[in-house]
Amino acid sequence: RIPLLLDVDTGVDDAIAIALALRLGVFDLVGVTTVAGNVELERTTENTRRVLAWLGAADVPVARGMSRPLVRPLRTAAAFHGENGLGGFEPPPSPAATYPETAPEFMVRTARERPGEVTFVCVGPLTNLAVALGLEPDLPRLVRRVVIMGGAYTVPGNSTPAAEFNMYADPEAGDLVARSGLPITFIGLDVTHQVVLRRDEWEALEVASDPAARLVREVCVHSFVVRGIERFHLHDPLAVAVAARPGLVDVRESGVEVVTGLGERAGETLLVDRPGLPRHAVALGVDADAFGALFRSTLGLDGTPG
Ligand code: BDR
Ligand code: CA
Repeated sequence: RIPLLLDVDTGVDDAIAIALALRLGVFDLVGVTTVAGNVELERTTENTRRVLAWLGAADVPVARGMSRPLVRPLRTAAAFHGENGLGGFEPPPSPAATYPETAPEFMVRTARERPGEVTFVCVGPLTNLAVALGLEPDLPRLVRRVVIMGGAYTVPGNSTPAAEFNMYADPEAGDLVARSGLPITFIGLDVTHQVVLRRDEWEALEVASDPAARLVREVCVHSFVVRGIERFHLHDPLAVAVAARPGLVDVRESGVEVVTGLGERAGETLLVDRPGLPRHAVALGVDADAFGALFRSTLGLDGTPG
């Protein structure tokens, strides 16, 4: 099994990503770290704890992380995720005790304890990982791989015309992480906009009884009913799937820069090749059918029990 640390700002698609990580059967989920993003930190942490408990995984440690971006105020995405961040779904509280370490400390300790073994999947603003790099500059040599949901490399953004939400929320953290020597696979809107849950599939889940399928049904209510969308983008679940099966995406090796500062392009991600700038794998293509089949069968969305 692949030791996995998942960094989240739960969040509707984060919740589904947690379910996928637990159900794929290839990961040893060593912990989940939380960050402020889609909603405030108290909420993303509480949502994460409740989602894990709902899925029978209350024993997985949840380490609470940074409550605001590195240098700028928090800008949430509650319009997309509902006021409570879970599209109005309120799973019961977790019976687990709260975890004492902060998220960046948890990241560093986990990597130090198992050098070269742990995969990080980060699907929120990159604040925790940026702080962890400050605490342990050797982190790039200690982690196996980092898969990041963030950026829009050849397509427009979703928070602004230039920027995808996770990079828009904390561009300074994103830029610091991209300039580090961490071995990163970036999963941006270029590929996540190609993987969707359709309205008819969501409607069919009305009768689902499996907890993972029920979770998908409940957290998507706000999106399909209140926002009235027809296709729900599976951003964060795709990042989890790529950690299990890298072949799902086609990547370009490139340096990445994130636009920082006060201009309207803050959070824009640029593919840049320059000597000295570390190269990462940037996903520009995805086998959407293969992902869809894996996603649906794993979460019991196609009638198969998960
Ligand atoms: C990303 O932004 C968040 O709202 C989602 O959870 C996802 O991580 C997509 O841009
Ligand atoms: Ca997220």
